[in-house]
Amino acid sequence: MLDVRKDFPILSRRVNGKKLVYLDNAASTQSPRSVIDAVSDYFGNHHANVHRGVHTLSAEATELLENARREVAGFINATPEEVIFVRNTTEALNLVARSYGDAFIGKNDSIVLTQLEHHSNIVPWQQLANRTGAKLHYARINGEGMLEENHFAELLAGVPRITAFTGASNALGSLTPVRKMARLVRAAGAVSVLDAAQLAPHGGLDVKRLGVDFAAFSGHKLYGPTGIGVLYGRKELLEKMPAFLGGGDMIREVSWDSFTVNDLPYKFEAGTPNISGAIGLAAAVRYLSKIGLAHIARHEAELTRQTLDLFGQDERVVLYGPPASKRASIVSFNYGSVHAHDVASVLDSQGVAIRSGHHCAMPLMGLLGVPATARASFALYNTPNDVEALASSLKKVGKIFG
Ligand SMILES: Cc1ncc(COP(=O)(O)O)c(C=O)c1O
Repeated sequence: MLDVRKDFPILSRRVNGKKLVYLDNAASTQSPRSVIDAVSDYFGNHHANVHRGVHTLSAEATELLENARREVAGFINATPEEVIFVRNTTEALNLVARSYGDAFIGKNDSIVLTQLEHHSNIVPWQQLANRTGAKLHYARINGEGMLEENHFAELLAGVPRITAFTGASNALGSLTPVRKMARLVRAAGAVSVLDAAQLAPHGGLDVKRLGVDFAAFSGHKLYGPTGIGVLYGRKELLEKMPAFLGGGDMIREVSWDSFTVNDLPYKFEAGTPNISGAIGLAAAVRYLSKIGLAHIARHEAELTRQTLDLFGQDERVVLYGPPASKRASIVSFNYGSVHAHDVASVLDSQGVAIRSGHHCAMPLMGLLGVPATARASFALYNTPNDVEALASSLKKVGKIFG
């Protein structure tokens, strides 16, 4: 078991008079001291605008930003020019839909998604379909909440242009066979877009090994700051895509009538970037690499298994999603007929932070036949004590609601 709680200052907080048990990690993870220090050092010692300045602070800020890009690129096994800094997963997916989609998708094309997707990986494609007339298809999931691989393969036989799929469902935890899917997509002549928001924090993201064309993830789910995320794109594809937002930094030259675009990755980074966010994200991936991603994945898998075992012993708990071996460290459940928000409120009174709601996956909730679930999600700093606190505060829900 990992013992890293001391690295996370917020975990010593009390909430409602109780020790904080933070189990809302699929929404946002907490940051270790090294991330907080890196951001603070930037603002305290090096803050200035990047890329344009001749003065020392500007050169230092530029170097810190570009070092951060190199570190993040190393973390995902990409080259720095393939790492586009964006605000979050949502913006990364929208960038692909707007730039690649508008340039290469037409009225007779189809786009394949899965029924596991977060709204961020549905709505941009719906908008693209609305703009172009392209058709959307969703690969089905089975009763366990796992992708029906045969149906996915069937949809690929329709020769889509783009397929976009998650590596791990934020609502059910279900893992998808990303490498196999990416191989099938390429064989079908389409490009693959991986929503890695939940995958990157649980075992890492090696874009070359997975063989995806694009991948998107957020810093705030990876122990880094909010407001920073990454779009990875294969260089060959990024090069032929038109720029998305226009403005400073993304241009090489501008005249009254026209502009020429800058090299990668700047072509897709219009305006002043989130410098401190990138520096914080680099500190986060450094921290994770030091601990070891495989180690983290094993630790979280064990906590997930313990939770599913404990919940399985309470007949009032309704569990959603596959067995522990097939999911990321996310456990979605309901408690008898108690609304998920009531469950979350009672747990909060005990200092236990979980999420409740539709988890930005309303179509998937519709398939489950519920408006909402409660969701506990684990990170590297959670412990078996946290699992016990979750289970015992759930008993309190039973007492209150009968
Ligand atoms: C699977 C998945 N995709 C996309 C997102 C959107 O991430 P962000 O809000 O950081 O853009 C989330 C966030 O919950 C997610 O879990």
